[in-house]
Amino acid sequence: MTELGSQITVRNVGPLEGTIRVPGAKNAVLKLMAASLLADGVYELTNVPDIVDVSIMGELLGALGVSSHRPEPGVLVMSNQGQLVPVAPYELVERIRASINVLGPLLTRCGEVRLSMPGGDDFGARPIDMHIEGLEAMGAQFKFSHGELHATCGRLHGTDIAFSFPSVGATENIVTAAVFADGTTTIDNAAREPEVVDMCDMLVKMGADIGGIGSSRLVINGVERGSLVAAGHRTVPDRIQAATYLAAVAVAGGELDVLEARPEHMANLLARFTDMGLEFTYGSGSMHVAASGRLRSIDVPTLPYPGIATDYKPLIITMLSVADGAGIVTENLYPGRFRYVEELIRLGANIRTTGHHAVVRGVPRLSGAPVRAHDIRAGAAMVVAGLAAEGVTTISGVAHIDRGYDDLVGRLAAVGAGIERG
Ligand code: EPU
Repeated sequence: MTELGSQITVRNVGPLEGTIRVPGAKNAVLKLMAASLLADGVYELTNVPDIVDVSIMGELLGALGVSSHRPEPGVLVMSNQGQLVPVAPYELVERIRASINVLGPLLTRCGEVRLSMPGGDDFGARPIDMHIEGLEAMGAQFKFSHGELHATCGRLHGTDIAFSFPSVGATENIVTAAVFADGTTTIDNAAREPEVVDMCDMLVKMGADIGGIGSSRLVINGVERGSLVAAGHRTVPDRIQAATYLAAVAVAGGELDVLEARPEHMANLLARFTDMGLEFTYGSGSMHVAASGRLRSIDVPTLPYPGIATDYKPLIITMLSVADGAGIVTENLYPGRFRYVEELIRLGANIRTTGHHAVVRGVPRLSGAPVRAHDIRAGAAMVVAGLAAEGVTTISGVAHIDRGYDDLVGRLAAVGAGIERG
């Protein structure tokens, strides 16, 4: 990894200025990697972020029979020689939520999977009932014992699935399972996140027959197993990392060119950031953002795409902590995802949480202190909070940030932030 050291130190040393290039999205590349289980051959993924979760997913795929290496920065080459072992070991699965994404490909390819229940972030229960019900409707059978899911099937069959909620992971698992199913699978209320679209685009390149990509109704016509081939793919840029740099300049002030950010993937967020006082101009493949004066408060609910993502929320709450007025943030995806609020309060923020809501009354500035990163996004928010604070903020639990951020410290330091590792 590019970053070493067990804590990050942040000081507000003035406005930010310069250019930041946004890397590929964690929540896309991990699914592209899992898709390599579906067909033999060599895959070259580009715009791959240098993050720990990619390494863990690489180890998991290695245990399942797909080897990988990184010949140069940003490139991941995977080789599936058709010798798959559909047993996902606990010590890898428990480290990464996206390990659940091997379920659909392995099941449809091998007819059997043994998978420990996935781990991931520490913000409450994250059930997989929708994954299981969807796959059962396609003919799979599940047994659960000793913390392990044992799934078996003959050839899966197409069916009509209507999700009660547009789950990202369940959509991805049903799509990957359906590519080889007998007949047509439809998914109503499918997730539409850009990362889901990215995975579907790669599957189509591989030979899958998927209609409605990017809409809430996906139609997957099963193809014969031999008709899928390995493909290369460029990972979609990371809208959450892009938002992190926007939040950083929002609280520190200044101007940034954010390269490779895709405004069309962040339209709702950019509209709300504009309401808060940020000014945007868009070029081809870039975004210029300027921040001057105090931010204005807004009310925000988190919603599935194209709504404001839950992963933006710690950043938004941090921005509201120093905005003029009061804002209410409502969490509609993960009720327990407010742990970092205690840390912001340690920095002097005025935040009250009740149930799914956080009421944030802006203060003129935060005051630096030691804080802890409880998950990836909360960790990034602590870094942003450090830029909004007087004095020194030290952030521990940096391993969480390394799971999903490619050189956050280096990128911010390069545009003038007072930030260092160690
Ligand atoms: N849910 C269920 N049952 C299911 C599946 C989901 O109740 O079978 C619930 C979850 O408990 C949660 C909600 O539905 O309350 C959303 O879950 P979803 O399945 O959409 O999320 P996910 O696939 O587990 C991905 C990202 C998360 C991101 C969410 C929402 C990956 C690896 N993770 O998780 O990203 O917050 O979508 O957009 O793609 C992160 O990157 O830090 C992160 C947590």
